[in-house]
Amino acid sequence: MPLRDLDCGPNPRRTLSAGDRPAHYRKLGDSQSRGRICSCVWVGRVEAGRRVTTMVKIAVVGIGAIGGSVAADLSDVGRHEVHLCARTPIDELEVTHPTGTSRVCAKILCDPDEATPVDWVLLATKAHQSPGAAPWLRRLCTRKTVVAVLQNGVDHEERIAPLLESGSEVLPVVVRIPAEKLAPGKVVQRRPGSLVVADSVAGRGFKSLFEGGRTAISVVDDFVTQAWWKLLNNAAVGGICTLVLRDLTAARDPEVQAIILAMMAEIAEVARAEGAMLQDDAPEQALELVSDATPGHWSSITVDRREGRRLEWEVRNAVVGVRGRRHGIATPLNDLVTTLLRVSDAESLEPRGIQVPDREGA
Ligand SMILES: NC(=O)c1ccc[n+]([C@@H]2O[C@H](COP(=O)([O-])OP(=O)(O)OC[C@H]3O[C@@H](n4cnc5c(N)ncnc54)[C@H](OP(=O)(O)O)[C@@H]3O)[C@@H](O)[C@H]2O)c1
Repeated sequence: MPLRDLDCGPNPRRTLSAGDRPAHYRKLGDSQSRGRICSCVWVGRVEAGRRVTTMVKIAVVGIGAIGGSVAADLSDVGRHEVHLCARTPIDELEVTHPTGTSRVCAKILCDPDEATPVDWVLLATKAHQSPGAAPWLRRLCTRKTVVAVLQNGVDHEERIAPLLESGSEVLPVVVRIPAEKLAPGKVVQRRPGSLVVADSVAGRGFKSLFEGGRTAISVVDDFVTQAWWKLLNNAAVGGICTLVLRDLTAARDPEVQAIILAMMAEIAEVARAEGAMLQDDAPEQALELVSDATPGHWSSITVDRREGRRLEWEVRNAVVGVRGRRHGIATPLNDLVTTLLRVSDAESLEPRGIQVPDREGA
């Protein structure tokens, strides 16, 4: 029996017969030449003699650079019921990525009260915005829901588990997707992306969600090492470039490099105490990763400072000192950078009643 229900809509139930091989998406007639894909096809699976729907319900909370990119990919895969949970209302999500532009056909929710339980939540707010997303998590999660946390840092579980009244499992994810939100509902993913998860039942389940998609999913035995490896650059290069308000080419200056390497040496010592298997030359290797950065290549935390948005200094920088103190390891350079980032973070000053000068003023 041919598949008929090609239109968008949360209607996963339909009849399939064995041998059906539905296309995962269809290209829209006149927009095909522009490479646009409308990901609207719900796909089921047929097992001998039984009709089975394998639709997985996925809610992406935070439709920004990362949430938008992964939502478009999961939607284009065509097997899932994807719900977009947005704070700023959007009518649609359009994501330009390395293989074209996807217009995402998914259920768009702008009010947590409209949300219902799902199998997976992909939490892709900035880390300091997670508590604000708690009403979404309350409505979306049951004990069986897995909450994949697509955020920077090394303490995903510690900070998200207390927000989950349902006791849902937290799956930390290392994000390597260079993307930017251009406007509400408009995202550009600049290069192919990848995500890293631990080798666990949830980690393997997460990988299977993206099968056939654009995002490469690595399932690793040693997630701790991967998370701290990423933090080397996030904390040191991102922290310094944000303080000097420069793109990543600032890290080419020999004196800046010396500071970055000294910060990374502190981070690596804490990381090893936390169980990360970083090699002796991990700081040099990490710095090498940004050696070919071109002008205009900004760290996302620097972009946030440039645009006057709150900074993620708690999870990218303060965490080094916090974890270091647990092991009796001094991290003076990282503490210094943390303090300067905290003080430069306008919104973090406001709750303490300190008046923030007008950006255009003195
Ligand atoms: N961008 C990158 O290239 C990149 C790369 C690697 C890792 N990361 C990490 O990935 C994480 C996400 O970063 P991002 O760049 O995607 O941030 P982003 O573009 O600022 O997106 C965050 C989104 O979360 C939304 N949000 C905030 N509070 C919310 C709430 N209560 N309910 C629903 N939505 C809410 C924001 O909505 P509004 O539109 O209302 O502000 C925004 O659209 C961060 O930890 C970041 O460090 C980013």
